[in-house]
Amino acid sequence: MASALIVLVLAAASLVKKGKASPTGPPGRQCVQLEVPVPVDTTAIHWLQQKVESTVDTVDWVDDMNRWTSPNTTSRILGQITVKETFKINGQLCVPPKGPRSDILQLATHGVGFDKRYWDVEIKSDKYSYVDAALAEGYSIFTYDRLGTGASDKPDAYDVVSANVQVEILRKLTALARSGKLVSSSKKLGGASNLSSYKPKKIIQVGHSLGSALVIGLLAADGASSDGAILTGFLYNSQLGGVSVAPWGFEFAKENDPKKFGDRGSGYIVQSTKYNTQLVFLKKGAFEPALLDYAWKIRQPNTVAEFISLGTVLGQPAPDFKGPVQFTIGEYDYGFCRGDCKGTYNTTAIKELYPASTALQVHLQPGTGHGLTLSTNATAGYKVTFDFLHDAGL
Ligand SMILES: *[C@@H]1O[C@H](CO)[C@@H](O)[C@H](O)[C@H]1NC(C)=O
Ligand SMILES: *[C@@H]1O[C@H](CO)[C@@H](O)[C@H](O)[C@H]1NC(C)=O
Ligand SMILES: *[C@@H]1O[C@H](CO)[C@@H](O)[C@H](O)[C@H]1NC(C)=O
Ligand SMILES: *[C@@H]1O[C@H](CO)[C@@H](O)[C@H](O)[C@H]1NC(C)=O
Repeated sequence: MASALIVLVLAAASLVKKGKASPTGPPGRQCVQLEVPVPVDTTAIHWLQQKVESTVDTVDWVDDMNRWTSPNTTSRILGQITVKETFKINGQLCVPPKGPRSDILQLATHGVGFDKRYWDVEIKSDKYSYVDAALAEGYSIFTYDRLGTGASDKPDAYDVVSANVQVEILRKLTALARSGKLVSSSKKLGGASNLSSYKPKKIIQVGHSLGSALVIGLLAADGASSDGAILTGFLYNSQLGGVSVAPWGFEFAKENDPKKFGDRGSGYIVQSTKYNTQLVFLKKGAFEPALLDYAWKIRQPNTVAEFISLGTVLGQPAPDFKGPVQFTIGEYDYGFCRGDCKGTYNTTAIKELYPASTALQVHLQPGTGHGLTLSTNATAGYKVTFDFLHDAGL
């Protein structure tokens, strides 16, 4: 996106004819859509949680999560369960023409409220799509729908679709990509046919919000799994945890939109109004109305377990992680900084969590809210990230 792709109309037309053009982005983009079977055998926490099977239940769940006399997170741990299951994860691998960075794979994990389209905004994609920007910069990129979202499996929302299970899925996806078998071990759903043998030499984890928390969990559990980390929409700071779940404006997903979310069961909740989407993701002056409409249109439910389990993967050091790590957050992020990130963080303290990292940077994207890819000037923010990676040799 930083550098617009110059594409020959003829080449584009021939790709369309062959049915190889991807649904979005510049014509000629080489992407393959996959259903990746991810075998998981891990333990998860069994949480004390209210049942959420209607919007009335959802509002009462919010009340329970916020009430000062409710059990704290530790007291809500009832025990452990074994999760042994192969989940179907829907993903997309895009590979640019061979170049110095095409064997560096960015593996992007989206946050709460969206699916993988968060990384690949379909309107004005030259100004917003992170996938297009990464490709234009010469990187390969894999995006996927987190468990419970988009076209991936949507299992139990109380214990299974939780932070630690999702860290395990990310770990498995990373290992699969590194082995060069990501495409060959998946069911191909469409797209380019010549990416079957793609095998990256380096893997950079990219997260947004909850996705960044999952990367943080992975780096702590298995620092050697990754060669770099870009943690967006997340920052260790004095306001972390200061905003409750209430401003999300959740309703029971299936009741909110039976057409869109009829396949979400008990415990799946979704933002109820565009007002809530603006409050959580976008800052006045830094978004186009069409992008708020788009964010609202592509909204995705999440599970009650994702909120309660988030803290369990945070705050742990990653002594074995030897790559560069960048925290990029909107200057006016609502949920993570209570509306203003300036002066809330201590880079020296953050660095203590990554003692072996080759570089650490905190970047506040000016004027912007939590939804970085949906905000004006997004591309200039991507450039800060790419420059940081280049300086670190990636
Ligand atoms: C959580 O609640 C339990 C039981 O009331 C209490 O013993 C514990 O200290 C609390 N933990 C935190 C971190 O506040
Ligand atoms: C796949 O094929 C396209 C079109 O023929 C080509 O431009 C691209 O470089 C190929 N990609 C790889 C990774 O071989
Ligand atoms: C920042 O963190 C470091 C390391 O923990 C600490 O020594 C320092 O006092 C902190 N600075 C401020 C301003 O709190
Ligand atoms: C756009 O983002 C870049 C990179 O963070 C920043 O230098 C620039 O000041 C921003 N522009 C505006 C108008 O905020």
